[in-house]
Amino acid sequence: MARVAIVGAGVIGVGWAKLFARGGWAVALADPRPDLEQIVHDDLSGLSVTAYAQAGAAAEGADYVQEAGPERLEFKHRLFAELAAATGDDVVLASSSSSLLPSAIAHGSPAADRILIGHPFNPADLMPLVEVVPGEQTCDAAMDRAMEVYRDLGKTPIRLKREIPGFVGNRLQKVFNDQAIYLVQQGIIAAEDLDDLVKASLGLRWATVGPFEGMNLGGGPAGIRHLMENVGSQMTFDIGAPDSSKMGMVVQEVDAAYGTGEQKYEQGVTARDDKTRKILHALGEDS
Ligand SMILES: NC(=O)c1ccc[n+]([C@@H]2O[C@H](COP(=O)([O-])OP(=O)(O)OC[C@H]3O[C@@H](n4cnc5c(N)ncnc54)[C@H](O)[C@@H]3O)[C@@H](O)[C@H]2O)c1
Repeated sequence: MARVAIVGAGVIGVGWAKLFARGGWAVALADPRPDLEQIVHDDLSGLSVTAYAQAGAAAEGADYVQEAGPERLEFKHRLFAELAAATGDDVVLASSSSSLLPSAIAHGSPAADRILIGHPFNPADLMPLVEVVPGEQTCDAAMDRAMEVYRDLGKTPIRLKREIPGFVGNRLQKVFNDQAIYLVQQGIIAAEDLDDLVKASLGLRWATVGPFEGMNLGGGPAGIRHLMENVGSQMTFDIGAPDSSKMGMVVQEVDAAYGTGEQKYEQGVTARDDKTRKILHALGEDS
């Protein structure tokens, strides 16, 4: 049985553990948190998952490493030094980082050629995407291996040609979220109405066609060229930017709409995951 070391048992690490274990891997899950055994018992019951307090011990004998620890560069440096020392020369060390460049994580590491980003979207066990991002020194064999591992797990791995801060998914998300905040701050729309607007339009569209495919269809039989010359040519307005000093009113509005706390969080996650499973099923992508 192939063995994966998953380092960090937070929101993302537990998602990875479910995915790899269901995919037939023996999972070594490392986290110093005192409730790790409880997490394995409660959230990963019936799956082949063993708990470790030390990342290095979990990585001994691993065929693949998926790191999902805290998002701080100094921490990743320390952790990847431990992982590099504990693994063979051909073992990929993939970081789940949302924002740190793989070259920065690999800086000074003897294993720089096998360090890369395997960035999931939350929830990691359900969302198909994994962005696979090379650093300056990452070798092609490591990229090929990562693509193969994620594909075999049933994911949709997308290989970036080179690194850029935020990669692609989070850059797109940042533009979109900034504009959503700006529109609420400007008093154009309520936060909850904006969410309904997106679910009833762009969210549904983008689950079926991507932006470029959508633009091509939006232009009719003449495709994107017609869209650009017609509707696109009039979209020349300035879109503004959010005001960081006015975030309080946005937070208040979102809090009032959805609430916070353990119970609300659990309800929100369950509703989100149920709907995500149904959409994947309808699209035939829940294999
Ligand atoms: N939360 C998201 O939406 C999301 C999405 C995609 C990627 N990511 C990335 O995934 C990574 C983890 O994020 P998260 O949201 O799961 O964070 P989290 O805070 O929920 O979990 C991090 C875990 O790392 C553990 N940890 C601390 N020191 C450790 C050590 N020495 N060895 C092993 N584990 C240790 C912590 O105890 C904690 O359980 C980050 O790099 C983040 O950027 C997060």
